Amino acid sequence: MDQKKIAKLDLEINKQPAELPILSGSMGPDVIDIRKLHAKSGLFTYDPGFLSTASSRSEITFIDGEKGILLYRGYPIEQLAEHCDFMEVCWLLMKGELPTAEQKTSFVKAINAHSMVHEQLIQFYQGFRRDAHPMAVTVGVVGALSAFYHEALDVSDIQNREESAIHLIAKLPNITAMAYKYNLGHPFNYPQNHLSYAQNFMHMMFAVPAEEYKPNPVLARALDRILILHADHEQNASTSTVRLAGSSGANPFACISAGIACLWGPAHGGANEACLNMLEEIGDETRISQYIARAKDSNDNFRLVGFGHRVYKNFDPRAKLMRETCHEVLDELGLQDDRLFKLAMKLEKIALEDEYFISRKLYPNVDFYSGIVQRALGIPASMFTAIFATARTVGWVAQWSEMISDPEQKIGRPRQLYTGKSTRKVLPIAERE
Ligand code: CMC
Repeated sequence: MDQKKIAKLDLEINKQPAELPILSGSMGPDVIDIRKLHAKSGLFTYDPGFLSTASSRSEITFIDGEKGILLYRGYPIEQLAEHCDFMEVCWLLMKGELPTAEQKTSFVKAINAHSMVHEQLIQFYQGFRRDAHPMAVTVGVVGALSAFYHEALDVSDIQNREESAIHLIAKLPNITAMAYKYNLGHPFNYPQNHLSYAQNFMHMMFAVPAEEYKPNPVLARALDRILILHADHEQNASTSTVRLAGSSGANPFACISAGIACLWGPAHGGANEACLNMLEEIGDETRISQYIARAKDSNDNFRLVGFGHRVYKNFDPRAKLMRETCHEVLDELGLQDDRLFKLAMKLEKIALEDEYFISRKLYPNVDFYSGIVQRALGIPASMFTAIFATARTVGWVAQWSEMISDPEQKIGRPRQLYTGKSTRKVLPIAERE
């Protein structure tokens, strides 16, 4: 981190302007280092929603929202999606470099060695209602993993951190697939380690004991791509939640569970499920204009789910790749005439030509297409966010581990602009009005 320039903040209450260092990273905007601002001036900064605040320094993921660039450890997402599989991307995010063939083999072996869950953990599922949402189950079960791995919970130990990361990456497909099978009333499937990570995930979701199940390679590749595209996304709401939870030294399973809870919201990872529900609600092309009008009405809370992004203001590079995958999958399955897909394409066209969406730079985001792809793969909408959580687990653990090893790391403790009552006196009850 370079310090090149100084920002001077002219505050009326001080005679001298406050001098604040400007720090430069390797790419992206410089930042004004305000850590000493309060000590110097008695002032806090105010930035709800972190619109202008870099919450941390990180070497993992870079986004240029204007140019539509997403890099994992310096590699463009387009190249990773084309040349790598999810296991290579996991290694890259965790270790900083792409694996050699040997490193990949040993990583896959380590993941496979932990793909099963403890038999006692399976009993937890019986405590959930049969129709429990897979995300409700996943939040609970992932948090409960901390009860199984006491011996590896020294977060200051890099070896322990790596072990927890491997447990989490290895078990998430199993945990979320079991949540789905529980909904269906099907028996759970043990992982089959001769399959790839994505194939195994499909096997655990779709196989039944009565029939042989062979994952379709085109569809498995599409799921693998979904995992790659969702693996990390810099300091978004759920990653920031994981970092904040972890900043107190909390154990990784609890921190990732907090991240999963945050991801569930419809403004974040819940968008792909919400988008598909919205398409179902719109129902047919004749009703699109009615929904577009609602999205544009400032008195109506309705938003066109799957459109807009806090960071991408021209296009979402993940959306471009997911759009391609969407066409590949629908071609493979002969579903080009699928009702919801046609509706989505029509909605995309109308919104992209509408002045309201153009002027606000609202473009389809990755979740607009990933819901359609997942539906074509046979995955129910209620599982979409659980799949996002499975993919994002590697990003969360990489970011969490990076934070713990940062010598500048402190417990996260934001301050506030207090707008409540000023100090007042408690009156005896008989005198209160
Ligand atoms: N439909 C209609 N209007 C919208 C939409 C939308 N999807 N998104 C933003 N706007 C309008 C908003 O009303 C505001 O208008 P005005 O300037 O007239 O008040 C303007 O665009 C700016 O919106 P904002 O809420 O200030 O933007 P933001 O950066 O805070 O919100 C967002 C980003 C993703 C929360 C928002 O675009 C949204 O709610 N989109 C729908 C939900 C969605 O698809 N989320 C998935 C995000 S991608 C997955 C992920 O990375 O987690």
